[in-house]
Amino acid sequence: MCGIVGYLGHREAYPILIKGLQRLEYRGYDSAGIAIYDGETIKMSKTKGKVSDLIDCVKEEIDTKGTLGIGHTRWATHGVPNKVNSHPHYSNSGNLVIIHNGIIENYETLKKELTKRGYAFHSDTDTEVLVNLIEDIQIKEKIKLGKAVQVALNQVVGAYAIAVFDKNKPNEIVVAKLGSPLAIGIGDDEFFIASDASPFIEYTKNAIYLEDEEMAIIRRGKKIRVRKISDDSLIDPYVQELQLNLEQIEKGGYEHFMLKEIYEQPSAILDTFRGRLLSDQAIIKMSGIEDNMKRFLNAPRIIVVACGTSWHAGLVSEYIFEDLARIPVEVEYASEFRYRNPVINENDVVIAISQSGETADTLAAIKLAKSKGAFVFGVCNVVGSSIAREADAGAYTHAGPEIGVASTKAFTTQITVLTLIALRLARAKGTISSSDFRRHLLELELIPEKVKTALTTDDIVKTIANVYKNSRNFLYLGRGYNFPVALEGALKLKEISYIHAEGYPAAEMKHGPIALIDEHMPVVVIATNKGHYDKVVSNIQEIKSREGKIIAVVTKGDTAVKELADYVIEVPETIESLTPLLTTIPLQLLSYHIAVMLNKNVDQPRNLAKAVTVE
Ligand code: M6R
Repeated sequence: MCGIVGYLGHREAYPILIKGLQRLEYRGYDSAGIAIYDGETIKMSKTKGKVSDLIDCVKEEIDTKGTLGIGHTRWATHGVPNKVNSHPHYSNSGNLVIIHNGIIENYETLKKELTKRGYAFHSDTDTEVLVNLIEDIQIKEKIKLGKAVQVALNQVVGAYAIAVFDKNKPNEIVVAKLGSPLAIGIGDDEFFIASDASPFIEYTKNAIYLEDEEMAIIRRGKKIRVRKISDDSLIDPYVQELQLNLEQIEKGGYEHFMLKEIYEQPSAILDTFRGRLLSDQAIIKMSGIEDNMKRFLNAPRIIVVACGTSWHAGLVSEYIFEDLARIPVEVEYASEFRYRNPVINENDVVIAISQSGETADTLAAIKLAKSKGAFVFGVCNVVGSSIAREADAGAYTHAGPEIGVASTKAFTTQITVLTLIALRLARAKGTISSSDFRRHLLELELIPEKVKTALTTDDIVKTIANVYKNSRNFLYLGRGYNFPVALEGALKLKEISYIHAEGYPAAEMKHGPIALIDEHMPVVVIATNKGHYDKVVSNIQEIKSREGKIIAVVTKGDTAVKELADYVIEVPETIESLTPLLTTIPLQLLSYHIAVMLNKNVDQPRNLAKAVTVE
C-alpha cells in the first residue's frame, strides 16, 4: 500500500505535501516523490528511501514554487523500490502526472495494447500504464481529463486511489477511488487530498471520504463535483466533520510512536468502554449489538475473520465468546477464508476485526460472507474506513490513531470491545449470572489502572531486553486465554527486531518445539495464577531441565515460578478472561526495547506497511 497527498489552493503546496507524506509514511516508506506545478513548469523529484531522503533530493533538484502539487510514499508491489518506479509518473507527452495507491491487475494486457500504439514505458509499474491509458483516451476521443479518467477506469481491473493533473489545466486535479481510501479536505478556497485525514487536519475539519467507484473533479475556486465512475451520475457528497486532532497524530515527547501507543493503552481502553460499560446500572450498551440482537442470538456460530494482530485478538475472543456466551466460534485468517470456499450460512454472524479497516484480505472476506447472506459485524479503529462502511453493523474501538506499524493499543482495545460484546450476549442468553456479570464489569473498569501498573515493569523489561537482545531465536508459550498473547508477543518481536520467534500453546511444546531448547534459547512463558497455572509451572520445569532461559510473566506475589525462572515480570491480578490485557504489555515493551537496542527502525520496520491494502 502507499500514501497519497495532494494540494490545490492559494498556499505553497510543497510544505503541505511534505508534512502530509511524513504523516502517511506508516503506509509505505520504500520510496517517495512529489510533483509541483506553478502553472508553467511541472517540477518533479523522487527517490528510493524515505520522505527525509526526498527532502534532500528536492533541495538539490527543483524549486518548489507552486500552489498545485501531488506526492506519494510507496510500498512496492509492481517493480522494485527505486527512483524510476517511484511516483508520480508522467504520461508519454509529459502533460499528465499521476500518483496511485493500489494495483491495476490487468496492467500487462493494457500495456501490450498501448505499446502497440507507440507508447513507451520507463518503469515497471502498473501506474505508468494507467496514466498513459488516460492520455491515450484523452487524445483519441478528444475529451477533457475528467472524462478520460472515467473512461480509463472503466477499463481497469483492480484497486486504486489516484490523483492526476494535466499541464493544460493548472487549476484542476482529478481523483478517483476503488478499494483504496481517499479523503478530500475542504478549506477556504483550497483543497487537500490524502489517503487519510492526518495530512490536512490542521487546515480543515471538513472532509469528504470518496466511496468506491467514485471520482471527483477538484477545481480552484469551484465546488467539488463527485461522480459515479461506472455511469457518470452526479453524487451529492457527504461532508464530514473530523474528530481527529493534531496532538493525537504527533509523538507527544515519546521517542517512537510505538512507545507512545503502548503508554496510551490505559486511556485507550478507557475510551473503548466509556459510555458502553455502565457498571452502576450493571449494563453494557452498544447500539450495534442492541439493534441486531436477534441476529446474534439466532446465530448457530460466529466466524471471526482478521489478519495479523487483529487475528490474535480474534483468537482471544474465541475463548471469551465460548466461555461466557456459549456461542461456538471459528477464527479464520481472512486471506485463507476468502479463497477456500468456506461453508457460510445465512444465519452465521461474521465478525471482521481490523485496526485500519483497510486490510484487503479482510475486506474481501467480508464481501464473500455478505454474498452468502451472513451478517457482518465490523470491529475497526479507523472511523469511516472501508471495512467499517462495508460491514452491516459494527463497533469502533476508539483507540485513536495508531501510527507505529506494530499494533499495540489496537490489540488491547479490540479485546476490550470483543469482551463487551461477549458479556452483553452472555447476559442476553442467560449464560452468565448477574453477580458474575457485575464482577466482570467491575473488573473491566479496573483494567486501565492495572495496565498502568503493568507499564511500570518497563525497567525490568529493559534489563531483560539487554541480556537477550542478541539471541537468534525466542520461544513464547501460553495456555488458554494467554496462548494468543504468546503468538502476539512473538509477532511483535519478529516484526520490529527481525529476531526469529515462535508462539506456542505451552502444552504443545513437548510435541516438537522442546527439541529447540538449550542454554541459548530464551523462552517467554505467560504463567498467571489463573487458568492452568500448575500445568504451566510443569512446562517451565521441563524448560529448566533442558537449560532453557526462562522469562516468566506472572501474577504479582507469585512464588513458585520465581524459584524456577531466570527473570519474572509481575502484572496485577485480574479475572482470567481479562489477563491478556495485562500480560501483553510487558511483551510489547520487550520487543520495543530489543528493537531499539538493536538500532532497528521501530515505527517503520523493513518490508512492512501499516495497512496491507494489497493481496
Ligand atoms: O489493520 P488491520 O488490523 O486489519 O491489520 C492487520 C495486520 O496487517 C496487522 O495487525 C499487522 O499484523 C501488524 N503489523 C501487527 O503488528
